[in-house]
Amino acid sequence: MAGEYIRSILATGGAGFIGSNFVRHVAAGDYERVVVLDKLTYAGNTANLAGVLDDPHVTFVQGDICDSELVFDLTQDVDAIVNFAAETHVDRSLLNAGEFIQTDVYGVYVLLEAVRRNALRRFVHVSTDEVYGHVPEGKSRENDPLDPRNPYSASKAGGELMIRSYCTSHGVPAIITRGSNTYGPYQYPEKVLPISITNVLQGQPIHIYGDGQQVRDWLHVQDHVEGIEFVLRHGLVGEAYNIGGGNERRNVEIARSVLRELDAPDDLLHFVTDRQGHDRRYALDTAKISELGWSPRVGLDDGLRETVRWYRENQQWWGPIRESEDYQQYFAQNYGGREVLKVGQW
Ligand code: NAD
Ligand code: DAU
Repeated sequence: MAGEYIRSILATGGAGFIGSNFVRHVAAGDYERVVVLDKLTYAGNTANLAGVLDDPHVTFVQGDICDSELVFDLTQDVDAIVNFAAETHVDRSLLNAGEFIQTDVYGVYVLLEAVRRNALRRFVHVSTDEVYGHVPEGKSRENDPLDPRNPYSASKAGGELMIRSYCTSHGVPAIITRGSNTYGPYQYPEKVLPISITNVLQGQPIHIYGDGQQVRDWLHVQDHVEGIEFVLRHGLVGEAYNIGGGNERRNVEIARSVLRELDAPDDLLHFVTDRQGHDRRYALDTAKISELGWSPRVGLDDGLRETVRWYRENQQWWGPIRESEDYQQYFAQNYGGREVLKVGQW
């Protein structure tokens, strides 16, 4: 099993939301070395790595996965790459897709070249359920066709296709994970849960796109990172694995849970102009990873309660982000022009 061979990891994008939770998780394990490579874009933050940056097994390097020399050097003596680095927010991809193509497609190619030239043992690429596109009924299985429908998911699918080609042509030992909507501590307050929680904590409304009937499958970040590490150790090369939480909910239900946890009134629910090309539903069949021996452990009610508590107690983390110029500009650009269609119950 690969687990016996993987002693050192390069975690790219390890200062972002899922990456930093992964680094914290593996730093507590028995790996000899974890190197974090992160460009520190607006979404990257060394504060996410509080408590692990001074761990002697962990090294942080600021840099770009598109920098082939740097990536080549950093991979000369690691066993595996786990790639979290990406532009990740659908709404930003609708405003400007260029960086998504650069990092999520070209950046993956640079990593693949380094894996090939330095003969790494594993490349685990963290992808998304969004590559399957809208799923009106049933659940997506790993061999289903990819049908991405927004610039973010198209760039993630592009990265996946590049990986497939390197597995076939060059025998690169890559594995892809496709995770569902992830939530928990250290998520940048632009994704629906952290922006909704922090809006309400500041007395502002939750903006629900369209009718709020869109369905997502919610996965706690601790489950997601454990699933990724499980795939690193036990997954089969050349395969893709769905990682889902088994918690399908409509967006409006998620928003109501936030209001309930914060004891806030229904009139903070604002239904606004929908997202362009908004996928109505994602749903994952997770039989493949569960047959291999992994399943999620965190229940959605407990996970949401803890997450709301974390944001309530960690305003020193999200307050400066929300005050930053980049955030204010993005907030105005994304929400400023939206019409309020309905306030309160739909
Ligand atoms: P995030 O936006 O919080 O973090 C992304 C990190 O990548 C940041 O630290 C950023 O600085 C870094 N980065 C961006 N471009 C880079 C570059 N060119 N070079 C080096 N570092 C760069 O994202 P996240 O939510 O933690 O997502 C991590 C991965 O998981 C992504 O690949 C995403 O597609 C995937 N994913 C996310 C979710 C989710 O719900 N958040 C679900 C499934 C899959
Ligand atoms: O499904 C996995 C994907 O989940 C990841 O690959 C992405 O990186 C991650 O950003 C996330 O994408 P979504 O677009 O599903 O997440 P987001 O939090 O942006 O939106 C979740 C749902 O909530 C979606 O249906 C859009 C809606 N939404 C979002 C925001 C930000 C709102 O109704 N209002 C909002 O303000």
